[in-house]
Amino acid sequence: MNTPDSFNLTFDSRQFRNALGSFATGVAVVACVAEDGTPLASTVSSFNSVSLDPPLVLFSLANSALSLQSWLDARHYTVSVLHADQAALSNRFARAGEDKWRDVCPVRGPVTDLPLLPNALAWFECAAYGQHEGGDHTIMVGRVLSFRTRMQSDDQPLVFFKGRYRKLARESEALPVDDGLYLHAW
Ligand SMILES: Cc1cc2nc3c(=O)[nH]c(=O)nc-3n(C[C@H](O)[C@H](O)[C@H](O)COP(=O)(O)O)c2cc1C
Repeated sequence: MNTPDSFNLTFDSRQFRNALGSFATGVAVVACVAEDGTPLASTVSSFNSVSLDPPLVLFSLANSALSLQSWLDARHYTVSVLHADQAALSNRFARAGEDKWRDVCPVRGPVTDLPLLPNALAWFECAAYGQHEGGDHTIMVGRVLSFRTRMQSDDQPLVFFKGRYRKLARESEALPVDDGLYLHAW
């Protein structure tokens, strides 16, 4: 019988990353506070929705992240979904080990008092709900405690595709939706 192991597959890791990068994502900054009170944060493209009831979201963190242990210990964290104009913030929060919050004036979450990024497209405050082994990453599942959506006329997501930041085309160039398909409800 063919089991995954019996395939004995070897991937070229660069080609594998390129294939994964073909899946366009948004970009989010996840934040928590370490036990000693230090605010931490990381840029992630792995943020995703999981469940409506209970309300769950997820992201995955590399086990090599300097802040991993603080993330494993964190009982609460926040997610800020970045606006198209926030590529510089994305880069700043992707630099390992730096004082990423220097000169950034965060907004405080109403439930957790944890930092969120001003002008983000959406905010979520989460309670740690589950942690799952995912190879060289840990999958963090959070239960949403509160959220906010920006809802302004210039709302545009920061998009990450094939290793580069992108912006969506103007709405007039949006692709036609299939008849009868209501995308919000999948
Ligand atoms: C666009 C973008 C997306 C990223 N997505 C992830 C991700 O989903 N998971 C992850 O572990 N690292 C991701 N990174 C890298 C982390 O942001 C970076 O390694 C992390 O902030 C380092 O944290 P540390 O200071 O705890 O080591 C991404 C970086 C960029 C620029």
